[in-house]
This record gives sequence, structure tokens and C-alpha cells, in this order.
Amino acid sequence: MKKIILLNPGPVCTSERVRNSLLKGDMCHRESEFSTILTNTRKKILQAFAPNGDYTTAIITGSGTASLEAGICSSLSDDKKILIINNGVYGERISRIASAYRFKKVELKYDWCERPDIKEIEDTISKDPDIEVVAMVHHETTTGLINPIHEVGAITKKHGRTFFLDSVSGLGGEEIDLANDNVDICICTANKCIQGLPGLSFLLLKQNEVKRMRNIQPRSLYLNVISQLDEQEQKGECPFTPSVHTFYSFEEALDELLEEGVQGRLDRYKKASSYLRKEFKRLNLELLLPEGHLSNTITALYLPQNMTYAHLHDSLKERGFVIYAGQGELNKKIFRIANMGELTMDDLESLIANLQEVLSE
Ligand SMILES: Cc1ncc(COP(=O)(O)O)c(C=O)c1O
Repeated sequence: MKKIILLNPGPVCTSERVRNSLLKGDMCHRESEFSTILTNTRKKILQAFAPNGDYTTAIITGSGTASLEAGICSSLSDDKKILIINNGVYGERISRIASAYRFKKVELKYDWCERPDIKEIEDTISKDPDIEVVAMVHHETTTGLINPIHEVGAITKKHGRTFFLDSVSGLGGEEIDLANDNVDICICTANKCIQGLPGLSFLLLKQNEVKRMRNIQPRSLYLNVISQLDEQEQKGECPFTPSVHTFYSFEEALDELLEEGVQGRLDRYKKASSYLRKEFKRLNLELLLPEGHLSNTITALYLPQNMTYAHLHDSLKERGFVIYAGQGELNKKIFRIANMGELTMDDLESLIANLQEVLSE
């Protein structure tokens, strides 16, 4: 098959090593061989993202939304409220999950190109003792905006609330220090900055948070965090049939990440996005967000005048590159280019050369 360069924010291009790991063969998930893989994969997640202890992790067979839903439905006590900081499609997704469980929620909505107002967040929390969980997205994939996790974590800590972070498109690609940023529950997925294959996601949980969550009655059988965690920690098993082969590739991707180093991965992504942004400016493409809001891995750009997204997408796809559309109201205005995944500088230079040709046609 012709090589296609994925510039969508996951699933990303993976290495041959990760893809080849799928061929390790068939395996029964109730045998000790699988327990070893599960235990090692959990250890490697913690080694990469919580090397100083105090956190544990549960892996869920399902996409990022599965872990997101598991975290939300398992962390709110009856009659308490969840505060949702919403400035994009994924903040909105947290809100939709809370609604599906009929949770009491308070929502602070901001423009998709704006960072949330820290003072308003603190006022809202301090005035409402029923707010138990404060949920925010780390990297809003909608626009490529980085939210202020350190500031929000400091507020939740001060007021004794749970800080729930969707870092599905952040972890491995953006600055984060779970302990220092006071993140209690962090959600991530295998197939974005970790460069694994789609099908697995996970939660990083502060030990104290696990104790608190034990007092909450399960609201889901499959997506209950405590039962998933206990089975994985105590028995070295998953309660239901896991995606065994995806585990092979997840462990391999974590090995690659640990070899590169989390900081090394961030630096590579930073270098890639800086190069792309410099070239986009040279091609007179206008960025959606101001410099200070930008992530290391996604650039949202206004569509050039007189060019539809469909034309731009199809022309680049014919040349071997997959770009990504804007969502919601931004659908007709912008396109997105992500630089997550196994991409070389040659791939990016080739993208720019092809983009330049398409734009000048
Ligand atoms: C920030 C964020 N949260 C949640 C999700 C949902 O993940 P999935 O599509 O794997 O369910 C995504 C997917 O792009 C995301 O970017």
C-alpha cells in the first residue's frame, strides 16, 4: 500500500516496529502471558507519566471517549455537581457525558479561541461547595489550544475538589507534571502522542482519588473504574475481553516513548510545529490562534480565499497527505494540520512543497 502521511490528530502514523508487533500471534487473555503484558504496560505508563509514584493506572479497551466516560461516571458522588470548563468540542463532550448520566452540572463556556477565565473558575468553585469534580480538557483538539492546567490544578487543590483532566491529545506531546499540576484523574489514549494503535485508552489516578472513588456506587458495569482497576492490579487481568493485539502494539509504543524520553518526544513535536508554522506564514496562511495559545502538535489555519476544504483535502490526499477539517462552526472556515506521530522532517518538508503547489494552482 502507498505510504500515506497522516496529519490528522490521531490515529497517527506509527513506526514499523509498532505495526509489526501486532504479528506476535494469538493469545488467550486469561493466561499468564497476557498478565505479564498487562502488568508491564501499566508499569511503563507510570514510568513515563508518573515516575515519582502516587498514581496508578487502569487501561480500558475502547477509544479515548470510553476512558473519559469511565472517569466521569465513576468519580461523582450522588447529589454532588461536576463543573465543566468548556471551550471546544471535547469540553462539550464531557458535558454530554455528564448529561447522559443525569448529573448535576455547572458549565463555564468560553469561545473556542479563548482560554478560560481563571478568576471566574475560582469564584464559581468557592461559592458552590457542592461542586466535587472540576473537569477540563488539556489540549483542545478542536483548535489546538492549550488550557491552563497548572492554574486550575492550584485552585482545585486549594478548595479540596477533584481535578479531572482530559489529556487525550496532550499527554506525551505537551508539558504536564501530574503531581505538580495537581491532576487527580487524567485521561489519555494509545493512538495520539504515544504513537500506538487505536483501541486502547487509559486513566491515570491519584491514589487518594482511588480511595474516594471507592465510596461511589457503580453506575456502569464495563466502565466502572474501580472494578477495572482492582482486576488489573490484584489479578493482573482485565474484567472483560481486552484487545490483546492492540496491547502488543501499545507496549511497543511505550517502549519507543521511553527510549526517546517524554521530553525528547515533546522537543521533536515542538521542532516540527515551529517549522510548519514558519512555513505556513511564508505561504501566507493565517493561524486561527494567537502564538501564546498554541500546542506543540496541532495548527489550525484559515482556509485560503476561494478554496474549499474539500478541494484542499482531496488535492493533498492525491499527493499522499491526509489533513483534517474544522469542527462545528469552524467547519467552513478552517483546516487543521497535526504533527503527532512517526513523522520525519522529510515528510514535513514534502508536505510544505506539495501544499505550496496546491495553493498556487
Ligand atoms: C481532547 C480529546 N478528548 C477526547 C477525544 C475522544 O477520543 P476518541 O475519539 O479516541 O474517543 C479526543 C479525540 O480526538 C480528543 O482530542
